[in-house]
Amino acid sequence: MKFFIDTANLDEIKEAQDMGVLDGVTTNPSLMAKEGITGTENILNHYKKICDLVDGHVSAEVISTDFDGMVEEGEKLAALNPQIVVKLPMIADGVKACKYFSDKGIKTNVTLVFSAGQALLAAKAGATYVSPFIGRLDDISTDGLGLISDIRLIYDNYGFETEILAASVRHVMHVLDCAKIGADVMTDPLSAIKGLLKHPLTDSGLAKFLEDYKKGN
Ligand code: E4P
Repeated sequence: MKFFIDTANLDEIKEAQDMGVLDGVTTNPSLMAKEGITGTENILNHYKKICDLVDGHVSAEVISTDFDGMVEEGEKLAALNPQIVVKLPMIADGVKACKYFSDKGIKTNVTLVFSAGQALLAAKAGATYVSPFIGRLDDISTDGLGLISDIRLIYDNYGFETEILAASVRHVMHVLDCAKIGADVMTDPLSAIKGLLKHPLTDSGLAKFLEDYKKGN
């Protein structure tokens, strides 16, 4: 399972990269705004900085909602660095743009996916990644993890190569459940990656080992 971090914060990206477990980064316009990154030039420069920090794929989302605008923006983003994955919204023009980019060999991530039907369309359009938002589905009392299972079944039935990128992951249990179901990738905040470390028996066991070592030395 690949681990992506879901942030535009350079310190957090560096911390996850330094742990040695990071495979890529996802961003979205809200995450960029949270870091105070505004204006086209600043946004493009920020993507370049992120690419310099990590080895893997970096999803960069278009703002346009029409096909021509998405193509123009996506081509600019893809030209920044071969690590860039053009992130497109799950709307009709987004699907069309996904097909356009996949035919050109440009990597894509179809975002804002909330149903298996949308995920099927993204795969048909040749998406590199599809991003089902599990946390936001859970927020409205709908089964986010059930969606990941349905997409896994459909993709396996037909051998679609589109990778399932579980997004809107909020906590450690989401990560573990996605791993059990077979999501190819999960993207989450640094807190959920670090949360995987924690177990009280690890902490108490280590404290005891160190205490016993001190007694004998
Ligand atoms: C990632 O690609 C998504 O944009 C992100 O995971 C959404 O997460 P949120 O629902 O916590 O905003």
